[in-house]
Amino acid sequence: MIVLGIETSCDETAAAVLKNGKEVLSSCVSSSIHMHRKFGGIVPEIASRFHIEYITPVTKKALKKAGMALSDLDLICVTHTPGLMGSLLVGVSFAKALSFGLNKPVLGINHIKAHLFAPFLEKGRFMFPFIGLVASGGHSSLALVHDFDKIKMIGTTRDDAAGEAYDKVAKMLNLPYPGGPVIDKLAQSITESPFRFKCARFKDSFDFSFSGIKTNVLYTWKKVKTKNKKAKAQIAYAFQKEIIESLTRQSIAACKKFKIKTLSVGGGVACNSYLRIRLEEEGKKEKIRIMIATPDLCLDNAAMIAALGTHLYKKGKRADYKLTASASL
Ligand code: KG4
Ligand code: ZN
Repeated sequence: MIVLGIETSCDETAAAVLKNGKEVLSSCVSSSIHMHRKFGGIVPEIASRFHIEYITPVTKKALKKAGMALSDLDLICVTHTPGLMGSLLVGVSFAKALSFGLNKPVLGINHIKAHLFAPFLEKGRFMFPFIGLVASGGHSSLALVHDFDKIKMIGTTRDDAAGEAYDKVAKMLNLPYPGGPVIDKLAQSITESPFRFKCARFKDSFDFSFSGIKTNVLYTWKKVKTKNKKAKAQIAYAFQKEIIESLTRQSIAACKKFKIKTLSVGGGVACNSYLRIRLEEEGKKEKIRIMIATPDLCLDNAAMIAALGTHLYKKGKRADYKLTASASL
């Protein structure tokens, strides 16, 4: 089965061609991130205009790289929720038009759920059941997954997403957008810090909270920035340590509670060097298999959309031209 995936939920215009739901024949991404940088965050109107411009060339490139023609496609899968409304609408309209023109089926896919399956694409097989952590700029969620269509959300953030906290703290520290990779690099430049930050913890819950820590960072930074030249790196280090400990603690706790031996980790924050180290350590200790994708598959991509779409289609999921975008879940 040859499937085209389309992803336009945020600032990446992505297209991918997948064979039989696991073999990535091509995965192409064009990002408008360089155009948002000077605003310190994503500007929805810029993102959607970029998608309109790039969706056709990116799709053509993905088909060419896969050695496929439009007529080879058996199915078209597109992210239809959640995301920026204008951005989602570009992908959904494009996919529906292709589907109509080619007389091939189209399916709408949930972006967050698709992230859960991306780490297995490299292995070429999916390992059920698993706990999935998705930590990105828009979402921080934990899910218990028994099958492609048996996904139970067991935890979410009660305020900011992990990546959002990274981006906001970077802004406070006068670091460029997106903040995740910059703070990660800065934190790696030292090995200890006199600062300590704490994320809220909730009893008997797998939820996260990344909003309070920001205020904590802000007041600390205001107090020390003129006196301490090393403060920026030390704050980045202490901030990263607590965010990553929170993600690690909740993910491992969920695995233990549900007696699950595989943890999949996706979303932009899964690129984080310290998260990878901490999860490997805890995984070894608790005998839990940690599945983290390469950065290309952690970040927004269309291969994960085609993967989940193929399997849902095989399980009987269908859509029609009433398919539309939905900004929130
Ligand atoms: O999944 P993604 O590409 O887009 C969304 O769906 O949001 O994630 C982007 C987010 C940004 O907030 C960025 O700061 C964060 O992922 N990020 C990181 C790292 N690389 C990207 N956060 C922490 N450490 C990183 N190395
Ligand atoms: Zn994402």
